[in-house]
Amino acid sequence: MLNILIFGPPGCGKGTQSEFIVQKYNLKHLSTGDIFRENIINKTLLGLEAKLYIDKGQLVPDSITINMLADKIKDAKSENGFLFDGFPRTIDQAKALDSFLSNIGQNISFLISIDVPEDDLVQRLLKRGRDSNRKDDQNKNVILNRIKIYRTQTEILKEYYKKQNKYFNIDGSRSILDVKHDIFNLIKKNI
Ligand code: AP5
Ligand code: MG
Repeated sequence: MLNILIFGPPGCGKGTQSEFIVQKYNLKHLSTGDIFRENIINKTLLGLEAKLYIDKGQLVPDSITINMLADKIKDAKSENGFLFDGFPRTIDQAKALDSFLSNIGQNISFLISIDVPEDDLVQRLLKRGRDSNRKDDQNKNVILNRIKIYRTQTEILKEYYKKQNKYFNIDGSRSILDVKHDIFNLIKKNI
């Protein structure tokens, strides 16, 4: 089983690179942001609640996010493993994930953190905001708030995984294909 975490600030390329990884390694892709957005489109109760936070660039509370992910892991049939994208984002989420996986006799293989300078992140997200209808990309203050929350609440998780020798980082400022190449090499070396 291969259980990978793809990690990094908003706009670093988690979703883009996840597509390549899940295809090559046949993993189940669980992106909490994508799941929330699906629920928002379908106007579910979860979606309505999550929207209150997402539109402001704040984290959805752990109680909501952790329960949602627990259900997804229970329902998912993955013979090869999971790729977690955008989860965990807090220490409590990381601990909950460890326990969900240990309940099914698994654990996190490693975390891949994608580093990108802040100016590039803002430009990428503003561009997507112009080309798509992702509301949290359409306002620079919301983008800056997402980055600030990443720095203050989420980045601390690097230490959590470093202590377990499960932390790797790559330079995400290059082209999508160059980043993909580095990520594939990294995975190959560590499985
Ligand atoms: P989420 O959907 O996870 O958004 P995010 O972390 O803000 O990051 P993005 O998905 O916007 O960026 P990405 O890193 O996936 O990059 P992408 O490949 O798309 O979360 C959204 C919200 O949901 C959160 O703010 C929060 O409210 C809530 N939420 C989600 N998970 C949560 C959790 N666990 N706990 C609590 N709340 C949670 O690329 C971005 C753009 O850049 C694209 O246009 C892409 O084409 C482009 N791009 C990608 N790579 C490159 C490259 N190498 N060069 C140039 N452009 C590139
Ligand atoms: Mg994403």
